[in-house]
Amino acid sequence: TSGDGTRPGRLRDRVALVTGAASGIGAVCAERLAAEGAVVVAADLDEDGAARVAGQITAAGGTALARRVDVTDLDSVTGVVKEAATMGDGLRIAVNNAGISGPLTPLAELSPADFDAVTKVNLYGVYHAMRCQLPAMAATGGVIVNLSSIAAHSAFRGHAAYAAAKQGVLALTRTAAREYANHGIRVLSVSPGVVGTPMVTSLPPGSTDNLIASVPLQRTAQPAEVAALIAFLVSDDASYMTGSDHVVDGGYLA
Ligand code: NAI
Repeated sequence: TSGDGTRPGRLRDRVALVTGAASGIGAVCAERLAAEGAVVVAADLDEDGAARVAGQITAAGGTALARRVDVTDLDSVTGVVKEAATMGDGLRIAVNNAGISGPLTPLAELSPADFDAVTKVNLYGVYHAMRCQLPAMAATGGVIVNLSSIAAHSAFRGHAAYAAAKQGVLALTRTAAREYANHGIRVLSVSPGVVGTPMVTSLPPGSTDNLIASVPLQRTAQPAEVAALIAFLVSDDASYMTGSDHVVDGGYLA
């Protein structure tokens, strides 16, 4: 084990697809999985950002390639998953992380367009991904981790669509876990608290102060603290875990 807890070789040669890999949790997760030996497909709507992350992984001695994906588009997701399935021993790990927070709007003022936009990325995105990944993994087995949120467990004002989508992610996760356990596929979700990523740092200054004050650990999570959990869940160390959600929230829900 290295100083930051990385376990080199734990994921040796396993092909891992990470969506939303250009930024935040996805970028750090892609780097962590690569540091543990995975062959990473860094996929994002932001193709340049994904290429940057893949370049950093390669420069650090890992193996990665970048692909453009739009998780709202089933055909786009199908293409990337099909390609990953032809690599190495086939697709073994998928982290369905791409997400957007959407505007902060009270429910009665939430437009159908905004509800659609948030749902298309955060809920349909996970459905599209698993719709392709489950058959791709059915012969070899594998593990899928979907990003939910503490917003699925506790309401935040202005986040109705986001909360609905993230609750939906829990339901998709549990259902897929039950349906595909006999194919050797584990399906899990992760519910982070407030993480210091562009999704949060792009909010108006001070807007998360009250929220952070109510976190027992009194700070936001670093993306690496979420990536460490994901690296564990996708490894054989978590071989008896499926269908469950894993909270990493500094005690917020306690
Ligand atoms: P981020 O905004 O830093 O990164 C999200 C990435 O997803 C970006 O690179 C973006 O280009 C990509 N993306 C957006 N729409 C896409 C699409 N249609 N197709 C493909 N890629 C797309 O966000 P962050 O904070 O790293 O969030 C990652 C995940 O973690 C999201 O699902 C988010 O909801 C979840 N999460 C984040 C929390 C936080 O406090 N930052 C808390 C709880 C959950």
